[in-house]
Amino acid sequence: MDAITIIRAKRDGAALTPEQIDWIVAAYTRGDVADEQMSALAMAILLNGMDRAEIARWTAAMIASGERMDFSGLPLPTADKHSTGGVGDKITLPLAPLVAACGAAVPQLSGRGLGHTGGTLDKLESIPGWRARLSGDEMLAVLRDTGAVICAAGEGLAPADRKLYALRDVTGTVESIPLIASSIMSKKIAEGTGALVLDVKVGSGAFMKTLADARELAATMVEIGTDHGVRTVALLTDMATPLGLTAGNALEVREAVEVLAGGGPRDVVELTLALAREMLDAAGLPDADPARALADGSAMDRWRRMIAAQGGDPDAPLPRAAERHTVTASESGVVTALDAYAVGLAAWRLGAGRARKEDPVQAGAGVELHAKPGDEVTAGSPLLTLHTDTEERFGPALAALGDGAVRVGPAAEAAVRPIVLD
Ligand code: URA
Repeated sequence: MDAITIIRAKRDGAALTPEQIDWIVAAYTRGDVADEQMSALAMAILLNGMDRAEIARWTAAMIASGERMDFSGLPLPTADKHSTGGVGDKITLPLAPLVAACGAAVPQLSGRGLGHTGGTLDKLESIPGWRARLSGDEMLAVLRDTGAVICAAGEGLAPADRKLYALRDVTGTVESIPLIASSIMSKKIAEGTGALVLDVKVGSGAFMKTLADARELAATMVEIGTDHGVRTVALLTDMATPLGLTAGNALEVREAVEVLAGGGPRDVVELTLALAREMLDAAGLPDADPARALADGSAMDRWRRMIAAQGGDPDAPLPRAAERHTVTASESGVVTALDAYAVGLAAWRLGAGRARKEDPVQAGAGVELHAKPGDEVTAGSPLLTLHTDTEERFGPALAALGDGAVRVGPAAEAAVRPIVLD
């Protein structure tokens, strides 16, 4: 077996054999296939695609490159959620303790933000003392004690994907549905959850800009999960507009806690409950009532235990940025559009995200929204507030918002979309 034959086969539009896939993924993980060869293959896959059998085998080979976690010893069914990433997407924070309060165990391996989308671990790290890195034993102990754990994936989980994703990031090969689907699903299947709910985002702030692409990605991931014995469902949800009223680490934690306290923005509550119902259903608990667990404080109780179990102080004040700048409406009317990508980019430039993996993030930085599409505003009223510790970041953030990020006009032009599209 050799890499050049495999690259040529995919370049010429052939389907790769199971043996070819197993060989190249294992050889790349070992370092026997060079980065430039894997980049050429990734580009050939991006251009020529993979069929269902190839995607299933590619995913299996990436899972086999590392260890698999096993929660079968837990007395509870397990359920996890994965979002394909967006702006203001803090849903994991209220969702994990909420589903735990309803009787399922939630082992949630999460990531950090890169680019304009935020990362759950960066958000939680704004809570004083909270630790993202847990050993396998610690993770299991938190899961047993509190029913939910949110932490970083260990180095041993799907190492082929870790290497390949870093390569795709710098070779223009991220945007391939077979590669995205197999990347996400290899980690989720290796994580060992019994049920998985996928939140596939659609719109300017998401990877998938059109409903058709999002549907194809969702269907591919559901097929992979199902082929591997994981009960998998997907929701297509709106990411044309940021979720909730905040984008930024500590700002989003504050909003998540509001949801757990029974308040919070309507779209965040609606999506949290919709995903909770799907997770509980997939975990075999269709009669659980997540709305009640939010209202009666049991989800908040789980949150506090989960944060404390990972060294965090749930009562500690959250960091606030040193500097603020408020943008006001220049005319009266209704907010007709609020662009998720522009808001994500502004939050990133304010310091909420990082340009390189090793960069630090500012806990208090981000964007606070005062109005969403459909809301009335009057000339001079606040539209959004920028938060940062470094005043010189306001200029680049305002440039990201430009003139078009928030549009005000007649009510009939307001683009108010449902949060769950399908
Ligand atoms: N997230 C992943 O984990 N992998 C991808 O390829 C894209 C998003």
